[in-house]
Amino acid sequence: MNDLSQSERSRRVQTMFTRIAGRYDLMNRVMTGGRDIAWRREAVRHLNLPSDGRLLDLATGTADLAFAVRERYPRVQIEAMDFSHGILLGGVVKAKQRAEANMFFGVGDALALPFPDATFDGITNGFLLRNVVDLPRCLRELRRVTKPGGAVVCLEITHPQTPVFKQVFQLYFYKMVPVIGGLIAGDPQAYSYLPNSLTRFPPAKPLRDLFVAAGYRDPYFKLLGLGTMAIHVGLA
Ligand SMILES: C[S@@+](CC[C@H](N)C(=O)[O-])C[C@H]1O[C@@H](n2cnc3c(N)ncnc32)[C@H](O)[C@@H]1O
Repeated sequence: MNDLSQSERSRRVQTMFTRIAGRYDLMNRVMTGGRDIAWRREAVRHLNLPSDGRLLDLATGTADLAFAVRERYPRVQIEAMDFSHGILLGGVVKAKQRAEANMFFGVGDALALPFPDATFDGITNGFLLRNVVDLPRCLRELRRVTKPGGAVVCLEITHPQTPVFKQVFQLYFYKMVPVIGGLIAGDPQAYSYLPNSLTRFPPAKPLRDLFVAAGYRDPYFKLLGLGTMAIHVGLA
């Protein structure tokens, strides 16, 4: 997808997530051995919301991160937003099944959020940053809609640094994941995109530097999953 225009890349990401929506949760559980649930819970621990605050879960997909926020913050108002209708519908259905109250779903693009400045007490996003076509702009936009002092918490895959494990991970991620994606989701192309999107994504420290450049206060990151996952946090 590297040679495509930004709008064409964006459109392809949008339609891809709609395509894999039905098997998305199952693929997450299989690919991570179920660890993705614990990673989302850990991400939520880095929020600093008032108990009756307002949170945006951006790129919510099937809303698992929004539900993890709900576990810890029973009273916050949660706005769950994504730019792919198909996968967002999966989140809406699950929220209905769980009889979620005070959780609102909407379609919107992380690069042009339909909210005034300083709307939210905090923002979460899981596995968004690798997919956006303009990462610095996305980080600025997340900061813009967050109240001063509110936390922007980003959970994302990262590049493991341990020499031997790095080779094992690359074998798994680049060779096996597309095969598993073909078998379970019927979409090897989407699960080839997944590792390729990591290739061009910055490692954890340069990503933290982008938080600094976007104007965040005190950005830091925490590695999880043997260094394959990172939670980046910055204060608006
Ligand atoms: C890998 S899924 C993550 C879903 C969910 N956050 C989770 O933790 O499983 C990535 C999501 O990002 C969404 N996305 C990618 N680029 C986006 C953008 N520019 N604006 C809004 N959503 C976007 C996709 O539609 C997709 O639902």
